[in-house]
Amino acid sequence: MTSFSLTAPKRTIFGRDSRASAAAEIAALGTRVLLIRGQSVAWVDTLVDALSRSGCCMETVISSGEPDLDAVRQAISVAKVQRADCVVAVGGGAAIDLGKAVAGLYCSEGDVAEYLEMGDAPARQLNDPLPFIAIPTTAGTGAEATRNAVIGVPERQTKISLRDPRLVPDLALVDPALTDGSPKGLTLASGLDAITQLIESYVCNHANPVTDALCRSSIPKAIAALRHLMEVENIQARDEMARASYLSGIALANSGLGIVHGLASVIGGRGAAHGAIGGRLLASALFVNQDVLNRQEGNCIRFREVDEWLAVGLVVPGENGNLALRHFVDANELPSLQDLGVHTTEFEPIAILGLAASSTKANPVQLDTIDVCRVLQLT
Ligand SMILES: [Fe+2]
Repeated sequence: MTSFSLTAPKRTIFGRDSRASAAAEIAALGTRVLLIRGQSVAWVDTLVDALSRSGCCMETVISSGEPDLDAVRQAISVAKVQRADCVVAVGGGAAIDLGKAVAGLYCSEGDVAEYLEMGDAPARQLNDPLPFIAIPTTAGTGAEATRNAVIGVPERQTKISLRDPRLVPDLALVDPALTDGSPKGLTLASGLDAITQLIESYVCNHANPVTDALCRSSIPKAIAALRHLMEVENIQARDEMARASYLSGIALANSGLGIVHGLASVIGGRGAAHGAIGGRLLASALFVNQDVLNRQEGNCIRFREVDEWLAVGLVVPGENGNLALRHFVDANELPSLQDLGVHTTEFEPIAILGLAASSTKANPVQLDTIDVCRVLQLT
């Protein structure tokens, strides 16, 4: 019998129009609210009005891009001046990661850098965090369900996680309507991130019965929903992607990921968008992982399942799903690695760093630098 533990948000409210309950849920946690918001989230103004009517006072921090050490330090000082009771993040994965880091570090002494996974383990352990509510407005990272915040460390040109089971949000409030009408490029990159997270969680070496169930039920539906959204706006497909994103967060928090996210932490540390990197690397990573596993006469059943889900979801049943994924990302103009600022001369150093990244520890098979360079070359 496989033994496992499960980490998930303390509470989840999922549903179209569930945002109507947000102000009451937040006010129940405190009256001094640090609100972290993405730049283009219009609904936040409605939330601020409702919080004011509930007797809350707010300080607002705008999240502009994926958080780095300085962004976390600045937001913590705003929270401390305010003497915040709770932290609320409304936005994409970057805003939620910033909120998670601020809530996590608020009651802890010292600098954020001392708590990151710089080596095998962080130098210090967090004190208990402030209450934290995550309200995602993109369907991709699943950050509303994970126990880590990804922080950019500019001097190392990489991203490193702040990780602790207590960082999982006290409440994940997921309203798919907040993603309605998102631009096609954002929908594609975010959706591919969720799908990559589900697939890497499913084939990784730490999958467990719960993550298997979540991934098996979500991957086929998410692939079909994302294809649908590339053709036309559709409420049911938005609902499906919001659910897939949330479940991908639970899956990755409890199983692990693989080489795609290992490489994404390196390439993303140089400024490229996370979802686009993962979507661009997924097909070649599946191919190389399966190839290495085949040579070792390992069990490739899960890779064959994923290939079939891709073929069916992308409407080329019976064909090669991996190839269908390549055609899908190209046809929908996902940026290439070169577009993302990665040149062939950098493949080897990126591969070496990617192999050492924490996400790569759960890759289903041991890869070497040549294998990882192939992942980069075959995109
Ligand atoms: Fe991701």
